[in-house]
Amino acid sequence: MEPYRIKVVEPIPITTRDFRERRYAEAGCNQFNLAAQDVTIDLLSDSGTGALSAEQQAAGMRGDETYAGSRSWFRFREVAEELTAYEHIFPVHQGRAAERILFNALLKPGQLSVSNTHFDMTRANVELAGGIATDLPSPESADFDSDEPFKGNIDLVRLEALLDGPEDVGVVVMTITNNGGGGQPVSMANLEAVSALCRKHGVPFFLDAARFAENAWLVTQREERFRGHSPREVAKLAFRLADGCVLSLKKDGIVHIGGMLALQDAELAKRCELLLIAGEGFTTYGGLSGRDLDMCAQGLMEVTDPLYLRERAEATAYLAECAREAGVDSVRPTGVHAVYLNAARLLPHIPPSRFTGHALASELYLAGGIRCAELGSLYLGEIDEASGELLTPAPFELVRLAIPRRVYTRSHLEYVAETLAGIAKNPERVPGYRVTHAPVMLRPFRCRLEQVKV
Ligand code: F0G
Repeated sequence: MEPYRIKVVEPIPITTRDFRERRYAEAGCNQFNLAAQDVTIDLLSDSGTGALSAEQQAAGMRGDETYAGSRSWFRFREVAEELTAYEHIFPVHQGRAAERILFNALLKPGQLSVSNTHFDMTRANVELAGGIATDLPSPESADFDSDEPFKGNIDLVRLEALLDGPEDVGVVVMTITNNGGGGQPVSMANLEAVSALCRKHGVPFFLDAARFAENAWLVTQREERFRGHSPREVAKLAFRLADGCVLSLKKDGIVHIGGMLALQDAELAKRCELLLIAGEGFTTYGGLSGRDLDMCAQGLMEVTDPLYLRERAEATAYLAECAREAGVDSVRPTGVHAVYLNAARLLPHIPPSRFTGHALASELYLAGGIRCAELGSLYLGEIDEASGELLTPAPFELVRLAIPRRVYTRSHLEYVAETLAGIAKNPERVPGYRVTHAPVMLRPFRCRLEQVKV
C-alpha cells in the first residue's frame, strides 16, 4: 500500500465521450493542445507533476528569499553534496538548463556526446552546442519481450571501439533510468565499466540522473551484488563513479520546478558558472526561489525512502500486469516511472503511416479521458513537411503512460487498465490518423492531425 495518506485533494474532471471527441478535434488531435480541465487522468509526464509532502510544504515556508547566499541555498547544497559528493553544485530552473550550460562549457564543435540514449531535449542541447549526439543502447534493449534486467545499459563493446578509434569523444552521458529506452535501468556493473573506460581515455563521464532513485531501487532488486543495500547507498555509489551530473529535480526531486548541475572539475566549473550567472541567475539560486531550493532539498531526502520506492515500483508493475491480462502488452520488464505500451501489437491493422502509437494514445483519451504520449513514428519518424506523409517509420510504436509521483491511487490505475481492456475488446475499431500540419522542429508539440479510417 501507499506509505502515506492524503491530506489535500483536488477534484478531477469527469467528462463524456461526446465532449472529449469535440475537444480532441479542436485540439488538432494533439494531446499537448488539450486543457487540463478536459483530462481525467493525466499520464503525459512524470515531470513536475508529483505531489509535495507536508514536510516539503513546511520547508517551502522556511524558504529564504535573500538574493545571494540565502539559508535555503546552504541547506540545498548540504543535501546535494551529501548525496553526490561533487565539489561544485549549481542550482538551475530545470534539467535542460543544466544540459545547456554543461554542453556549451564542455563540448568543442564536432565532438561526440555518447550515451545509452540521449533524452530528446538532451540531444537538442548537444546539437545546439555544436556537438554530435550518438546513442549506443545495449542490444538487449531492442527486444521488448525479454526479461533482461538491465536493458538501459550502454553497449560496452561499441563504446570501447568508439573510444579506441579516431573519433573525438567530448563526453559520455549515462541516462539513469533510460527514459528514451522504455524506462529501463542501468546496472552498477555497467556504470563501473563506463567509468573505467572514460578514466582510461580521459573523457568526462556524466550522469543524466533525473531518475537516480528509481534506478537505484531497481539495482537493489535486480543486481545480485546490491541486494540488501539501501537505494540511497546505491545512488551515492553511482554518483561517485561519474565526474558530474545533470539532474532534473522535477522527477526524483519530487518538486514542480528545479534542476541541478554538479561536477568535480574546477576549470569546467568556472566556465559553467559564467553561463549560469548570465542565463539562469546568481550561483546561489540559479533561477529558483529560496522556497524551491528548500523543497528540492527535502524532496531529495524523501525520494530514496525504500517504502516509497517499493510501492511506486509495484504500482507501475500492477498497471502493466492488469493491462497485460486484458491483452495489452508493454515493454518488459516494467520499470518504475512509466509503462510503455506496445501499440503495434495491439493495433496490427494500423500501419505506421497511420501512426499506430498515436492512434492508441488518442483512443485512451477518447475512451477514458486519459492523456499520455506516443513514442513512435509521429515522434521519431521522418515526415514530409508539405504532405504530412510518413517517409521513414520509427523502429517501434509505443505509448508511454508516465506515472506522476504520489498523485494517483491504485483505483485510478485500475480505471486506466479497464479503459485499456475496453479498447482491447475491439481493437479493429480504433481509427488511424493523418498529419495535417507537420512542423520540422519540435514536431510532437506543434503538429495537428485528423482521424482517418484504415
Ligand atoms: N533527462 C531526462 C532523462 C528526462 O526525462 C528529462 C525530461 C530531462 C532530462 C529534461 O529535464 O524537463 O527538467 O528540463 N523529461 C520529461 C518527460 C519532460 O516527460 O520525460 P527537464
